[in-house]
Amino acid sequence: MALPDHFLQELKSRCDASDVISGYVNLKRRGRNLVGLCPFHSEKTPSFNVYPENGSFYCFGCGVGGDVITFIMKIENLDYIEAVKFLAQRAGLEMPENTYDDGVSKLRNRILEANREAARFYYKCLYEPQGRAALDYLHRRALSDNTIKRFGLGYSPANRYALCNYLRKLGFKDNEIVAANLAFKGYDGKQIVDRFSDRAMFPIIDLRGNVIAFGGRIMSDQKPKYLNTSDTLAFKKSSNLFSLNNAKNTGDRTLILCEGYMDVIALNQAGFKNAVATLGTALTSEQALLMKRYADKVIICYDADEAGQKATTRAISILRNAGIEIRVINIPDGKDPDEFIRIRGDKGPAAFKNILENCDNDVEYRLFKLKSRFDVTRPDSKVAYMNEALKIIASLESSVEQDIYISKLASEFSIDKASINADLKRMASQKNMATSRKEFISLSEDLSGRNDKINTEKVKNTRAAKAEEMLISFLIFNNDLCSFVKSKVTPDDFVTKFNSQLYSYILEKIQQGVSPRTTFSRDFTFDEVSKIYEIMSFYNSQAATREAMQEYINTILEEKNRLTPDKVTEMSLEEIKASLYKKKKN
Ligand code: UTP
Ligand code: MN
Repeated sequence: MALPDHFLQELKSRCDASDVISGYVNLKRRGRNLVGLCPFHSEKTPSFNVYPENGSFYCFGCGVGGDVITFIMKIENLDYIEAVKFLAQRAGLEMPENTYDDGVSKLRNRILEANREAARFYYKCLYEPQGRAALDYLHRRALSDNTIKRFGLGYSPANRYALCNYLRKLGFKDNEIVAANLAFKGYDGKQIVDRFSDRAMFPIIDLRGNVIAFGGRIMSDQKPKYLNTSDTLAFKKSSNLFSLNNAKNTGDRTLILCEGYMDVIALNQAGFKNAVATLGTALTSEQALLMKRYADKVIICYDADEAGQKATTRAISILRNAGIEIRVINIPDGKDPDEFIRIRGDKGPAAFKNILENCDNDVEYRLFKLKSRFDVTRPDSKVAYMNEALKIIASLESSVEQDIYISKLASEFSIDKASINADLKRMASQKNMATSRKEFISLSEDLSGRNDKINTEKVKNTRAAKAEEMLISFLIFNNDLCSFVKSKVTPDDFVTKFNSQLYSYILEKIQQGVSPRTTFSRDFTFDEVSKIYEIMSFYNSQAATREAMQEYINTILEEKNRLTPDKVTEMSLEEIKASLYKKKKN
């Protein structure tokens, strides 16, 4: 059953949106609103708005918006019910009994419970005779029993029914075990089979201490080397990082970003607890934003091989976009951090500390890599190098930063700084023109409704859709005029389906004496909620006059009766005649 309206009303009155949001975003007052850098996409100038008077937020950059519950869902990566629980706890409000166990969040909880039991089981097996080879393997890789325990490493037995049987005994149903991706349906379509067998197991733990997934390493040369949990209701690869739960507590706002589980664990054992890794995929901007909540600086520490260097280039651009300061570590002799530390034994930690302290920033790294591709002793190669280097420098946003590298280049190649600056200027103006053209195109697409994924009919009926949106906003801010508006315009008068549904929802809520703003986030999908708050954010509630309202109503009725090519093809001849006749009469 859904959460009752009155409970949500109480919750919202106790959880002030600007209060809650400012716990995550640095907000500054601008007029009646608060603005800040959006936590949901990368930006350098603030387009994230909080509207204290109606307890909502909207980002003009990425189009995410909603109420305080939507905000918590998105930032804490929770579903609706969990976000409500989270806020209720914060406000010291008791959750209503038995009303919130909807199927999805129940299954999600069962998955987390199954994962926790599985982690315990794997750990236990590691220290049984069957886990001997795995334990030896981990010891051979220089992991201490203490480290094994701290990371909860384990062993998945060779018997492919071991975990399934164990979890069944604990009361887990087959569908729950499969939903957790701990097992899959075998070839006969009936019996389920363990997903992980005969592997060293690495549990992945989220920021709240839940076991959300596993990585399993094979101990031979077979493939795949690592098998990972696929995305489940409780796990999204692209928005989690391995060991962030440990790394976030170290106090200094610096993270070391590695490629693999083993690198992170080896670094932890060597005292570098701020290491994290992606989960078998390339870095995503979601992960960058997540890191930004705990760090101002990220040190990229990928493998020295070609794949690692490609990944470094990619990571640099993602992290820069997120506004994170970057350092890049180049590990000597083509090793990964784990090997680097291991082969040095006792001296490993100090040696690694030394490279950490002497690493380049991202621009130095890119210029260094670039230079290695050119023979700068030859004039033509030198020009080509300078050109490429200038492209890198032109991409920097800060002119102080640009100036530093221009000076460096100038002195390195004994070239006049002024001529480098002139080249740079020319490059920058070309780039600006391209950007403003792109922005213009995207703005005009937004205005025409062409990018509207929720109200797909808007593009064909822009004028009607606009008036509908204005009337909807007017009603949201003026509940007292509901009966009047309703007597003039019915949901059937709306041309676009989404707005029509939204309109009847709003009428119904107001008639029940509930502000629709209380329940949008409960009754609409995440993207629909963003759309609704976008509509509201374009509306200036101060300008809400009765004259304006009358104009929206007139436009809606006019547009409804207008013959469009689409409508004509669906109408009979009689209907068309009737419609034309009616128009003349008006
Ligand atoms: P690497 O191949 O660099 O592995 O992959 P590694 O961490 O050095 O592993 P060891 O030292 O040989 O044990 C880096 C990361 O890529 C993912 C894993 O997350 C791994 O830690 N990966 C790699 C997979 O998910 N599957 C694979 O088959 C290989
Ligand atoms: Mn390795």
